[in-house]
Amino acid sequence: IPVDPFDLVIFGATGDLARRKILPALYRRDLAGQLPDEARIIGTARAALDDDTWQGEIRHAILEHVPADRIESAALERFLARLGYVRLDATGEDGWQRLASLIRPGVVQAYYFSVGPGLFGDLARGLHRHGMNREGCRIVVEKPFGHDLGSARALNATLAAHFDEQQIYRIDHYLGKETVQNLMAVRFGNMLFEPLWNAQYVDHIQITVAEMVGVAGRGGYYDKSGAMRDMVQNHMMQLLCLIAMEPPYAFEPDAVRDEKLKVIRALDAVEPGDIVRGQYAAGNGQAGYAEDAAIPSSRTETFIALKAHVSNWRWKGTPFYLRTGKRLRARTSEIAITFKDPPHSIFGEQEGQKSNVLVIRLQPNEGIKLKVTIKEPGPGGMRLIEVPLDMSFAQALGPGAEDIADAYERLIMDVIRGNQTLFMRGDEVEAAWAWTDPVIAAWEARADRPKPYDPGSSGPEDALMLMHRDGRRWREIR
Ligand code: BG6
Repeated sequence: IPVDPFDLVIFGATGDLARRKILPALYRRDLAGQLPDEARIIGTARAALDDDTWQGEIRHAILEHVPADRIESAALERFLARLGYVRLDATGEDGWQRLASLIRPGVVQAYYFSVGPGLFGDLARGLHRHGMNREGCRIVVEKPFGHDLGSARALNATLAAHFDEQQIYRIDHYLGKETVQNLMAVRFGNMLFEPLWNAQYVDHIQITVAEMVGVAGRGGYYDKSGAMRDMVQNHMMQLLCLIAMEPPYAFEPDAVRDEKLKVIRALDAVEPGDIVRGQYAAGNGQAGYAEDAAIPSSRTETFIALKAHVSNWRWKGTPFYLRTGKRLRARTSEIAITFKDPPHSIFGEQEGQKSNVLVIRLQPNEGIKLKVTIKEPGPGGMRLIEVPLDMSFAQALGPGAEDIADAYERLIMDVIRGNQTLFMRGDEVEAAWAWTDPVIAAWEARADRPKPYDPGSSGPEDALMLMHRDGRRWREIR
C-alpha cells in the first residue's frame, strides 16, 4: 500500500549515508510500489550540483548498493525522476529560500539530517527561519546522538526549541531490523514464553554483536567514540531493553518507549571488574587498529564485553552479558536467553541434557531457535539429546533479507507514516548516556588500556573469564 504523498528533504545528500543507505532504501520501496506518484525527494548539500548531476550520482550509488537482481531500469528511471537538488549552506543563507519554495503544502514533509550532530542546531534554526517547521512536519536524526549526557541534553534542547518531541525521529537502525521486531512478536504474541521470562526461570542472557570489519576509513569518528559509545550506548542498549521490558499496554510509540525507559533506569552501575575492553591487533595480513585509525597509542576500545544487571522485580539476579567488537571471527548478531535447569533430573546425570536456550539471531541467517532436550531416537534406551526447534526466516524473507537497507526501508517509511514506535525518544537517549558516562569516566580515570586481541578471534582472553568465573560460557561466534 503506498504511503501518503511526501516531500523528503535530505540534508547531507552527497554523504556516505545518503548514498549507501537512505537512497537505496527509498529506491527499493519505490520498486515495491510503496511510493506514490507524488513522492518527491530533495537532496541538499554544499556542493554545486544540479538535478541531473545528483541524479547521476545516485544512479551509481543504487547500482553499487542494491543487488543486481533488484535493479529494474524502468523503476530506476522513475525513482531518479523524483530527485531534485538544492545547493544549500546549512550555516549560512544560501539555498534556504529556494528550498522553502519547493516544499509543497498538503503533503507529508520530512527533513532528514544526514549530517554530523554539529549541524543539527543550524538546520533546526534554518527550517524555523524559513517557515519550514510547520505543524506535522518531521525531522530525522542519526546517531551519534551526542557524545555523553551533557551533549545529548544540549542536542535535545536545540531540537526542542523548534520541534515537538512527536516530530523528532531519532534513528537506531537496529530497531528497524526484522528480527528485532520479531522479538516483540515472539514475546508478546505467544503465551509460551512470557511466563518464563524472568529471573526465576532465566539463568542469564547474552547479547553479541560481532563484526569482521575494522574501522579503516572512519578512524576520525571512531577514535573519539569506541565500542561503548558506537554500539553499546545505542544498539545493544535497545536490544537489552526489548528483552527486559515489561509488556507495553499497546504496540504504540509511547507505550513501548515508556517501558524501555524503565529498563534503562533500572540498570545498575557497571562494576569496573565487570568490563573488558579490547583493541584489535595487526594480523592475518591486516593492519591493526592503531594503523587503521592512524593513531599509534590510542586507548580506544574496538571490543567490549560487560556484565549488566537490571535491578527490578523481574530481573534481579539474572545477569545480562553484552559483547561487541570489530575484526572478530565472524559477523554475527544474536541474543541468547539461557533458561535454568529443571529442578531435578529424573534421568540422572546425562550429558545430553542441556539447558534450554532461545536464540534470536539478527544476522546473518535471521531466525529464532529454541533448543530443547528430547530422547535420542532409536532403541538405545533413554538417552537425551539437544535439538533445535528452528524458526528460520531465511525462506520467508528470501535472499538478501539481512541486508541493512531493510532496516532503513522500514524506518523511513515509518517516518512518512508518522509512526514513532521504532525510534528513540529524547529521554531514552539521555538515560542511556547517564548509564554509559560513569563507566567511561571510570576507565578514563584509570588511564586503562584496552587488551590487544588477534583479528579473527573472539576478542581478548579476559572476556572469556568474565563468564567463566560465573560458571558460564559465551556462545561461539560463528
Ligand atoms: C553502526 C556503527 O551504527 O552500526 C558501526 O557506527 C557498525 O560501527 C554498524 O559497524 C553495525 O550495523 P549492522 O547493521 O551492520 O550490524
